[in-house]
Amino acid sequence: MIAIYPGSFDPITLGHLDIIERGDRLFEKVIVAVLCNPSKSPIFSLEKRVAQISRCTQHLPNVEVASFTGLTTDYARQRNAGVLLRGLRVLSDFEKELQMAHTNKTLWDNIETVFLATSNEYSFLSSSVVKEIAKFGGSVDHLVPDNVAEDLYQWYKVHPPQISPPTTMSTPQPFIEG
Ligand code: PNS
Repeated sequence: MIAIYPGSFDPITLGHLDIIERGDRLFEKVIVAVLCNPSKSPIFSLEKRVAQISRCTQHLPNVEVASFTGLTTDYARQRNAGVLLRGLRVLSDFEKELQMAHTNKTLWDNIETVFLATSNEYSFLSSSVVKEIAKFGGSVDHLVPDNVAEDLYQWYKVHPPQISPPTTMSTPQPFIEG
């Protein structure tokens, strides 16, 4: 059975990598499919994200990294994949993920979504959290693969956050009657 692991991966985190490694043990092949979505504005280009993931999954011979546009189910059909693999971190993920799984089932009945519970140590982790930390100069070495940490430091060196100075409140004036 071939599984597709679709996502934005902007950038891939150790939480994603954990799902890929565990998926690799369950399925014949895992295709990590990076969505090309022009309506989102990722910091890393599609090609860069594919390269980042390829680099940190090179120890997994049954993992392929690719990109796609359009519907995930169309891509899955095209790649002869029967499973969509997704990670579930916390309860709040569940609602969105369940809706997505049901929607995908209406689009192609032969697809099954398989959820893996994210490992405990990564349950708080998201690409957004990682970008937020790196943006303000924090270390992300423990949250993303080494090559991705380097890319993030480089990105924010070139694109530092625009921080406006805190606004000073004007001193309240006493109210004088009359
Ligand atoms: O990493 P993300 O952003 O949570 O991944 C979301 C993704 C890419 C899996 C989802 O947005 C998706 O499948 N998009 C492709 C469009 C599609 O198939 N939509 C119908 C299912 S909701």
